[in-house]
This record gives sequence, structure tokens and C-alpha cells, in this order.
Amino acid sequence: MKQVYVGMSADLVHPGHLNILTKAAELGEVTVGLLTDEAIASYKRLPYMSYAERETVISAIKGVSRVVPQTTLDYTPNLQRLKPDYVVHGDDWREGYLRATRQQVIYTLREWGGELVEFPYTQGISSTRLHAAMKEVGTTPEWRLKTLRRLLAVKPIVRLLEVHSGLTGAIVEHSRVTTDNAIREFDGMWGSSLTDSTARAKPDIEAVDISTRVVTLNEILEVTTKPVVFDGDTGGIPEHFVFTVKTLERLGVSAIIIEDKTGLKKNSLFGNEVAQTQDSIEDFCLKICMGKAAQATSEFMIIARIESLILDKEQDDALARARAYIEAGADGIMIHSRKKSPDEIFAFCAAYNQFAERRPLVAVPSSYSQVTEDELAQHGVNMVIYANHLLRAAYPAMHKTAESILRHGRAQEAESGLMSISAILDLIPGTH
Ligand code: SPV
Ligand code: MG
Repeated sequence: MKQVYVGMSADLVHPGHLNILTKAAELGEVTVGLLTDEAIASYKRLPYMSYAERETVISAIKGVSRVVPQTTLDYTPNLQRLKPDYVVHGDDWREGYLRATRQQVIYTLREWGGELVEFPYTQGISSTRLHAAMKEVGTTPEWRLKTLRRLLAVKPIVRLLEVHSGLTGAIVEHSRVTTDNAIREFDGMWGSSLTDSTARAKPDIEAVDISTRVVTLNEILEVTTKPVVFDGDTGGIPEHFVFTVKTLERLGVSAIIIEDKTGLKKNSLFGNEVAQTQDSIEDFCLKICMGKAAQATSEFMIIARIESLILDKEQDDALARARAYIEAGADGIMIHSRKKSPDEIFAFCAAYNQFAERRPLVAVPSSYSQVTEDELAQHGVNMVIYANHLLRAAYPAMHKTAESILRHGRAQEAESGLMSISAILDLIPGTH
């Protein structure tokens, strides 16, 4: 009997999948190469169902003889192992970001005279449309919360962008770019204290209290489904921190990052230009311990942020703190820097990567923005946070517009830099 190979994600299974599998079964014995979460996350968003769940569904479909994992988007390793007579796929991958993958399949099959058989793509239904419908339905706090750990498990680096309002949340939720070989999106949101404070024209000194920060957070949660990492500043006194942990966890926030500073908090990017006091290792460890004991799920993460490099202390101080915080129960470490080059971050990474008890590592390249995600990932950084960029983009545009209206005594000159009235009316679904 001829051997047929079908590679698929099979997350939201629809008649288009069944159509392909039926056609494949007419050609011979069907092996489904089921893409692992890691393979899928390498070129598009994480599937809703786990590998095990998807395998259960797909192996129950008539005509499927067996299911094997496909661990890369590239079919080559599985094809060379199984040497199928046919690979079957919808014809939709001739164009777009899967083009190169398809080409490679054709080359590989030539080695033993195999053939790529393509069937017309089933019109009117697609995973993309189902994904959009799922987004509209929304998410649950539990689902959102656990997504961050799933992402950390399968992505070389998890990518977050700052949010400070419902609108910025919607931008992070929906922005996507199609490159030659992938669909790129943000994986989640950073609830920045700097931008939440600045949007309220308040200084970033914990003057915007947690209850107020949670108001912003709720506005964001209402219009998004992606995971949130919340900037908890110092976490406050431990007796208050435990309440913050419970509140965030109940709302479906995935993680809080607290920084090892004490007293009046100032923004880190000032460094030693302003008086800032780092907490003692003992006291900060106690705060981490109390927070971990307060959480109700095993999924919520408390990430400890180390300010040693910000305060011009040695690498050894930062590393000693990382060790102690992990020992105290921290689920991750954020190492911050305000240098113009990533060198001190990379030096930290090199030593940190040797830890036996290594936890996910977070970096915030605000001052060293030339660094790429690939470089950070190569040095072992697991999460990158673009901490303030939407606010920094919005403010100059608003300021310029205000000045233009004042200068000209009318709005016309400002118009060229603005979105149209019809575009703003169309921006948010349901406005009409
Ligand atoms: C924030 O975004 O509020 C942060 C990062 O804490 S930083 O501003 O660099 O301190
Ligand atoms: Mg902050």
C-alpha cells in the first residue's frame, strides 16, 4: 500500500481538514505528522489545544492510520525517516509564509521519487476565521493565566509590549506582521507602572496605588485575550503584597514582577542620578516567600527583578541575588540595565545560564534597543519586554497636534498627521 504523509496543526479541526484527510486516504495509508506546540509557535500563534489533545482528536478521524510528532515546521526530518510516496496538503500554501516550507518538501520528496499532491483549499472556512471567532468570545481568567507558562515552554523568546489602556491592549492583541516565513505577533502585555502613571500624568513612584492600577488592568482585560505580566513595582510591604498577588491571580494575570528596591521608588532608568535604595536580600526573599504562599494556583508566577546593575553594583551582587531569590521561590528573574549596550546583560546571562536551578530570564531593552530578539534568545533570555514604547509613540503625536492647533488657530494643519474621522469610527467594532 502507498504511504501518505499529511502535516498539520489540527488545533481547531474543521471540514477543510477532513476533506484533506479523506482525499489522502484515497491515495494510501495515512500518517499525520502532527506539529508540536514548539513547531507551531515557531511560525504562528500558540495552538489552543495541547499536543496530547490534538493527537486524541486527529487519531480518531477515519482514514488516519497513525499520528507522529513533527517537531519542526520543516517536514524534512520526518519525510526522510518515513519516505512516503505522497505528501498531501491544501493548495493554499503555494503563496505566503509557507512557500519555502512547501518548496523544501518538493526537493526532499525528489530523493526517492515521492510526490506532493495538493487539493483545492476548502473555501469559506479557515483556522484564521475560527481564531478570530474565538477571540471575539474572549477568554477565561484561568486560560489566560496559564498561557504564559505554555509560551515560555515552547518559544525561544516570549515577546511582550507595554499597555496602559484598553486601546493599547487592543493594539497588542491584534497587531500582526506576516514575514517571508512566519506570522509575527506579540505574545502578551506588560502592565507597566511607568506608562500607567505617565498616562495619568503622575510620577512613576508608586503614587498610582494598586487599586487604581487594577482599574487600568480591568479595562485591558476586557478587550484582550493575551497573557499579562504586571509591573508590581516594589510589591509594597509584604503584608500588602499578598493581597496584590491574590487580586491579580483572580483576574487571570499570569505573573507579577517585583523589584528589589525599598522606600520611595524611583524609575530605574534614572539609576544613581536619584536616591534609590536596594532592599536587603533577606527582606526581599521574605516578600517572595509570602507572595508564593498566598497564591491559589500553581500557575501564577512571581518574578524577581534585580536592580544591582541599575545601581552600579557588581555582577556578583546581581548573581548572588538571583540565586537567593530563586531559592526563596521566585519563578523567574528579571535583570535590568540602563546601559547603552547589552554587554552587561550578556555577561549576567553567561553566568546565570550555569545555574543548576535556572528559571526563565527576563530582559527589558529600553536603553540598549539595538539588541535583537534573536541575540537575546541566543544569550538565554526567555522573555523580552518592550516596556514603554506605545506611550512614547503617542505622546509626541498628541503634543504636536495640540501645538499645531494653538499656532494656527485652527485644526486643518494638524489633519495630515491624523487618522480620518471615518477611520476612527471604524476602528472599534460595534461603533456603528
Ligand atoms: C516600567 O515599565 O514601569 C518598568 C520598566 O518598570 S523601567 O521603566 O525601565 O523601570
Ligand atoms: Mg515600573
